[in-house]
Amino acid sequence: IGQDNADYLISRIRSVEGFPKAGINFRDFMPVLADPKALGLMLDALEAALPVPADSFDAIAGLEARGFLFGPALAARLGKGFIAVRKAGKLPPETIGESYDLEYGTASIEIEANMVQPGERVLIVDDLIATGGTAKAAADLIRRAGGEVAGFSFVMELIGLNGLAPLGDVPSSTLVTMP
Ligand code: PRP
Ligand code: ADE
Repeated sequence: IGQDNADYLISRIRSVEGFPKAGINFRDFMPVLADPKALGLMLDALEAALPVPADSFDAIAGLEARGFLFGPALAARLGKGFIAVRKAGKLPPETIGESYDLEYGTASIEIEANMVQPGERVLIVDDLIATGGTAKAAADLIRRAGGEVAGFSFVMELIGLNGLAPLGDVPSSTLVTMP
C-alpha cells in the first residue's frame, strides 16, 4: 500500500496498554474509521491488495464487531454481498457455531446456516489478526455451511503471534503489521 499510506494508517491506530486485561497492548481501530483520509485509503488499499482476484469469490464474510464496520463497504465496492459472522446468541435459528481462543480470552461465533450457498466462495475480512483463533473459527463455519474460503483480508497483523499459521494455505493479505 506504500510506506506513506502504511505510516498514515498506523498513525491512526491507538494503542492502549493493559486493555482489556493486564499484558495486552490493545490496538484500537476506531480512530481509523473516524478519520476520513484513513478510512478512504484503507478501503482503497483493501481493494487493491485483495489476496485473490475479485472475480474469484462470490461474497464477503465479516467478523463481529470490527469486521462489520468496513466489510459491507468493501463488499459494495466489489459488487458482492455481505455475510455476518456474529458473536453467539444474536442470530435466529438455524445457526451453526464455533468456539475458539483469542489473544485475551475465549468466544463463540455463529452464522445463519442458510447464508452460504453450496460451493459459494467467500472472502473473510476482519480488522486485526492476532492468534488467528477468530479467523480460523470463521473459516471452519463457512466450510461447515457448505462454502469455500477463498481468502482472508486483514487491516492489521500483530506480529509474533504466528496468527496466519492456523489458516493453512488459504491466501491472505494484511495492510500493516504491528508488534
Ligand atoms: C478482535 C479482533 C479480531 C480478533 C482477533 O475482536 O477484531 O476479531 O480479536 O484475535 P485473534 O486473532 O487472537 O483471534 P474481539 O474478539 O476483541 O471482538 P470485538 O471486535 O467484538 O471487539
Ligand atoms: N484482538 C486480539 N488481540 C488484540 C489486540 N492486541 N488489540 C486489539 N484487538 C485484538
